[in-house]
Amino acid sequence: TNLSFVTLLGSLRRNSYNAAIAQSLPELAPDDVSITPLGSIGDFPHYNQDLQDEGFPPTVLDMAKQIQAADGVIIVTPEYNYSIPGVLKNAIDWLSRVTPQPFSKKPVAIQTASPGLIGGARAQYHLRQSLVFLDAYVLNKPEAMISQVPSKVDPLTLSLTDAGTREFLSRQISALAELARTIKK
Ligand code: FNR
Repeated sequence: TNLSFVTLLGSLRRNSYNAAIAQSLPELAPDDVSITPLGSIGDFPHYNQDLQDEGFPPTVLDMAKQIQAADGVIIVTPEYNYSIPGVLKNAIDWLSRVTPQPFSKKPVAIQTASPGLIGGARAQYHLRQSLVFLDAYVLNKPEAMISQVPSKVDPLTLSLTDAGTREFLSRQISALAELARTIKK
């Protein structure tokens, strides 16, 4: 059976390296797996329960629906100050209040990219912790931490050029597909 995954991007930056990674994922997926980007989380308001009580922003509800309908989510994000960017946490906080909660029992893979040497590893464990509360099925292995990312993407086309990283990410997508199929059974 075919699977459809969506990508959730944790950077709002125009020339984001993480966006470059996310953009390259569809071509790294197996033939029976489609990968489409979710919209930007940049226009979610700051989470405030008063706003929620007045009615969820349509962008939040749209994204929740897309996640609900997907067979899995790939979160691609930078590390900020040894954690996840505030905008990503804000998006997760909004999405977590929607009923049905879209991350519940959802297969999720995490990818982080950084110019640094450990590729955003520390952000991954903060992200995992929030996803425990949301009862997502976060893929354990392979972990995808992309270090020294400026040397691995083409700065003009913003596509992932490093062969080793392409091969590695394609293995992680296959592992997420296997997890998603196991959960579907
Ligand atoms: C960073 N950066 C960073 N990198 C890292 O590996 N660990 C970290 O803790 C941080 N902290 C951090 C905080 C803030 C506020 C900024 C703006 C940046 C550097 C970061 O990895 C780099 O800017 C990336 O290029 C961000 O990813 P995108 O936007 O290119 O996808």
